[in-house]
Amino acid sequence: MKIGVIVSSTRPQRIGPKVAEWVVSNAPEGVEAELVDLAEVDLPFLADPEPPAKGAYSEPTTIAWAETVSSYDALIMTVPEYNASFPATLKNAIDTLYAEWRDKPIGTVSYGWGGGARSAGQLVAVLEHLKAAPVEGPKLTFTEHLTPEGQILEAADEAELEALYAELGAKVPATV
Ligand SMILES: Cc1cc2nc3c(=O)[nH]c(=O)nc-3n(C[C@H](O)[C@H](O)[C@H](O)COP(=O)(O)O)c2cc1C
Repeated sequence: MKIGVIVSSTRPQRIGPKVAEWVVSNAPEGVEAELVDLAEVDLPFLADPEPPAKGAYSEPTTIAWAETVSSYDALIMTVPEYNASFPATLKNAIDTLYAEWRDKPIGTVSYGWGGGARSAGQLVAVLEHLKAAPVEGPKLTFTEHLTPEGQILEAADEAELEALYAELGAKVPATV
């Protein structure tokens, strides 16, 4: 199983890559987890002339992003909480595609002062609208599970992450 672990924050000084590294480094045996950084994907805001639901992608950035998403059996989206929601960069990355999200198992790992619960909740609602298969995973709270600088603390529950990987694995259609 190949899983893309998305870093959804793109601001300078972000801690997103540290959270995503924690997710990648706890991947169970048999799972190939790769970091996918939206700062590197660097999508423009909805640059395609046709609406994504038509599936007539023409911008090279959209085509490449569609190929990236399709190349993974499942995804884990790491999401901070920005003003009670998830980052606009991630909303744009989701809105840029359409069919690629259908039935895709997608886990969330949120972080913030309240574990990023509102961020994860809103993300799951958007993914459900797109008929993806979302699974809420660990919610990391500042000072309890990680420092505001992104250092993961001992209370961060690796078992919860294991459970998330297992649940995603169960949703990936068998290929044999
Ligand atoms: C624009 C902005 C809005 C934020 N709003 C919230 C919020 O509503 N709730 C919260 O818990 N933290 C909030 N924070 C704090 C972020 O959770 C914290 O800065 C976190 O490190 C952001 O993730 P990043 O470093 O990967 O960008 C906000 C941070 C920014 C930059």
